[in-house]
Amino acid sequence: MNKPLQIALDGPAGAGKSTIAKTLAKKLGYVYIDTGAIYRAVTYRALQDGVGLEDGPMLAAMIDKMDLRLVPSENGQRVFDGTEEVTDVIRTNDVTNNVSFVARQPEVRAALMDLQRDLASKGGIVMDGRDIGTHVLPGADLKVFMTATVEERARRRHEENVAKGLPSDLGQLQLEIALRDKRDSEREVAPLRQADDAHFLDTTELSIDGVVEAIEQLMKQVIER
Ligand code: CDP
Ligand code: CDP
Repeated sequence: MNKPLQIALDGPAGAGKSTIAKTLAKKLGYVYIDTGAIYRAVTYRALQDGVGLEDGPMLAAMIDKMDLRLVPSENGQRVFDGTEEVTDVIRTNDVTNNVSFVARQPEVRAALMDLQRDLASKGGIVMDGRDIGTHVLPGADLKVFMTATVEERARRRHEENVAKGLPSDLGQLQLEIALRDKRDSEREVAPLRQADDAHFLDTTELSIDGVVEAIEQLMKQVIER
């Protein structure tokens, strides 16, 4: 049997990271780890408790008291803070539009590093985020930087909302995604950036199966090396 790999998928919002990571993990019998959910859970708790979203030291103290757990599930991953399940509440617009303020605090990123590395240490994993290839797992066996045009990424999110029967405004989504990308890319600590040794994959014109196939090809190259 091949050695289980550590696969890092990074890229901007709506590039398809979680969809692809989930599909790949299922196919390979790997564990899928969505690191964005960790930043979302912290943002949710800060909003609930009235902690300043740009107050790094207070946020770090809050994280210290949290008991964040990611539990693999049939549909990907469930997220708990202590006994409270926050899997769904961390996906609200309020969290989505505030998470990049929290995520750019150096104290927050430092406080969450060990948890992410610990989760990745358990064998075959597909981890998605913004800084997995550059900071969290610099030694990952395979790094992929996925992207797509902002128009396409907003369209994907819009379709998702429509399918779920949620209200959705394509223009507004495009604006929000572009703003979040800007904050994620321009922050000082661990910005959204392609690692030097990451493979670049533009998914604008690709189907989900097409992206999975492309990554499987890259995995083959890693295994044969
Ligand atoms: O799924 P979506 O692309 O909307 O976002 P996400 O992966 O859930 O990540 C939410 C936010 O968390 C991002 O916009 C970043 O601000 C932050 N994040 C990060 O800073 N570093 C990571 N490794 C993952 C997420
Ligand atoms: O995790 P990230 O924010 O990068 O993207 P996602 O949550 O996986 O959302 C991508 C959306 O685009 C999902 O609704 C997918 O079904 C769809 N999609 C995709 O992921 N990849 C393609 N090549 C085409 C569509």
